[in-house]
Amino acid sequence: MTEFRLTQISDTHLARRLPKLTANFEAISDHIDARRPDLVVNTGDLAFDAPTAPDDLAFARSLHEALPVPCRCLPGNHDIGDNPTEHGPLPQKPVNETARESFIAAFGCDRWRFDAAGWCFIGLNSLVMNSGLASEAEQFDWLASELAAASGKPVALFLHKPVFLNTPADPELAASAIRFVPPPARRRLIAALQAADIRLIASGHVHQRRDFTFGHTRHIWAPSAGFIISDARQDRVGIKETGLVEYRFQGDGFEVRHVRAPGQIDVDLDELLGAAS
Ligand SMILES: [Fe+2]
Ligand SMILES: [Fe+2]
Repeated sequence: MTEFRLTQISDTHLARRLPKLTANFEAISDHIDARRPDLVVNTGDLAFDAPTAPDDLAFARSLHEALPVPCRCLPGNHDIGDNPTEHGPLPQKPVNETARESFIAAFGCDRWRFDAAGWCFIGLNSLVMNSGLASEAEQFDWLASELAAASGKPVALFLHKPVFLNTPADPELAASAIRFVPPPARRRLIAALQAADIRLIASGHVHQRRDFTFGHTRHIWAPSAGFIISDARQDRVGIKETGLVEYRFQGDGFEVRHVRAPGQIDVDLDELLGAAS
């Protein structure tokens, strides 16, 4: 039986001026070289902060191109800007089509679908959700057609922001609104996913490792490959550590391994903010 081995990395936050994050990327690159999965997926925030420092995206691109196996990337809020929420304040750097096009120019696309080992894999741009941009509506139309084309295969979904904290009914709270896909787009996304057999939703963004199941869908929050955020800045929901996630898809099932690459360091965001300014 064929199997498909996928390594998820996330929130690499690369910048030439932040060598500790480059060192963490080199640690995961060496680990990937040793493990040789079929594919690496980066679920966003490839760049430290491209909306204020566009070179960060170019630097992230150069390092991802050097990975020893194929790689598919999805945008994060620090790559293309953030999405408006229902109850939180307006983002300082809102997502826009120009930033989205810059990401596509660097990484080829901002959403994708492919099939392997009897599974359907879909990657989404979660930042255009709730934005009102033309690409938001286009992506929802595209998603509906791709889910229909999955024809009952199990589906693994990848996107930057988690869809919700614990359940689809969780309300959006102003204090944590930026953490999840914002309503009403969240409700639209959850409704669209009902059309398919969604077994896995893999996200990043929170910089905390988490693994839980709701219904028959397993939700994996990949930790940041680059840095952790202190409790003073962010409440603790899962495990605060740098690392990555390894998946093995085969037939009707899949396995998950929570991994830290040898040499990965728990760099703290506070260290970086001093170095980045
Ligand atoms: Fe991030
Ligand atoms: Fe993020």
